[in-house]
Amino acid sequence: MPNIPSGARGAVITGWGSALGENTVTNEDLARVLDTSNEWIIERTGILERHVGGSTASLSIESGRKALQMAGVDPTEIDALVLATTTPDRSVPATSATVQNALGLKCGAFDVNAACSGFVYAMINAHGLIAMGARKVLVIGTDTLARITDWTDRNTAVLFADGSGAVVLEASDTGSQLLGWDIDADGSAEKYLYAELGGNIKMEGKEVFRRAVRIMVDSAQKSLAAAGITAEQLTLVVPHQANIRIIQAACERLGVPMDKAALVLQHVGNTSSASIPLALVDSLDRGRVKQGDYLLLVGFGAGMTAASAVLQWGGSAS
Ligand code: COA
Repeated sequence: MPNIPSGARGAVITGWGSALGENTVTNEDLARVLDTSNEWIIERTGILERHVGGSTASLSIESGRKALQMAGVDPTEIDALVLATTTPDRSVPATSATVQNALGLKCGAFDVNAACSGFVYAMINAHGLIAMGARKVLVIGTDTLARITDWTDRNTAVLFADGSGAVVLEASDTGSQLLGWDIDADGSAEKYLYAELGGNIKMEGKEVFRRAVRIMVDSAQKSLAAAGITAEQLTLVVPHQANIRIIQAACERLGVPMDKAALVLQHVGNTSSASIPLALVDSLDRGRVKQGDYLLLVGFGAGMTAASAVLQWGGSAS
């Protein structure tokens, strides 16, 4: 991946927010209607419960509004809205148009579909817009996977859920938060994880698992190299929340202890584009991130895509 040119204007996160589907579905709820058990789901995935409900627009509006409020930014000041989603509410227009109107934004808005890597793709795009002159960008990652999940298929029904996470990115003339990034895709692997238009998610779980670990680690290493830091210097890894075992395997290969991983999947399941921002927002709300800390965002998903970004909280002075 290209290095960030010296002198490119950087950005920092100044506000954040999240939203979850209003209904909680526990493993016991699923075990009542599927041939599965609480023990199996916990052991193989790490998930205890998930949230379903809402539309991609309604969840995005909720998380986006919270992020704007926290940043103290008036909606009219936003120069662009980038919405990562794999589950738009309609084919046309983009769901970002609905969100733009509801939030009172007066700017361009577009959707990014890179499956579960989508939020990182969107963040990298937003930094590019800021380097090109935008001053404030709202970045949202939202998915309503419950709508495209076959609730009679135990292979997928135990994994997926609905949620949204958002951040406000503001141009910074004194330092850049994004130190290195990577985006990747391998369309030849699309057969392992897909949903036809109007259809449900089909997945070869074992093959996705195997590839997920490899492509996450590969992408993370590229971003770390571009940022010029080592895995040991990371304070926090914010991985895609698909399966605790995938996160453990990826952290082990990267040489990062699990206590540095942001984890919310126990309570939210796999929310695709919302997964990384939900984990990031949770860590920020808990005060896990201090000025100057190095963070790694890293995801993988259908496509098969991978994406990662190394951030220095508050921006680097260089
Ligand atoms: N409850 C109980 N048993 C289940 C089950 C469920 N929900 N789902 C599958 N099983 C069974 C299988 O039928 C199989 O039975 P068998 O041995 O009699 O054939 C057994 O459990 C093992 O299945 P397997 O698919 O090998 O399990 P696994 O350890 O690979 O775990 C996943 C399955 C889906 C949890 C795991 O492969 C995974 O997480 N893959 C990645 C998926 C992912 O991340 N997708 C989203 C990407 S963004």
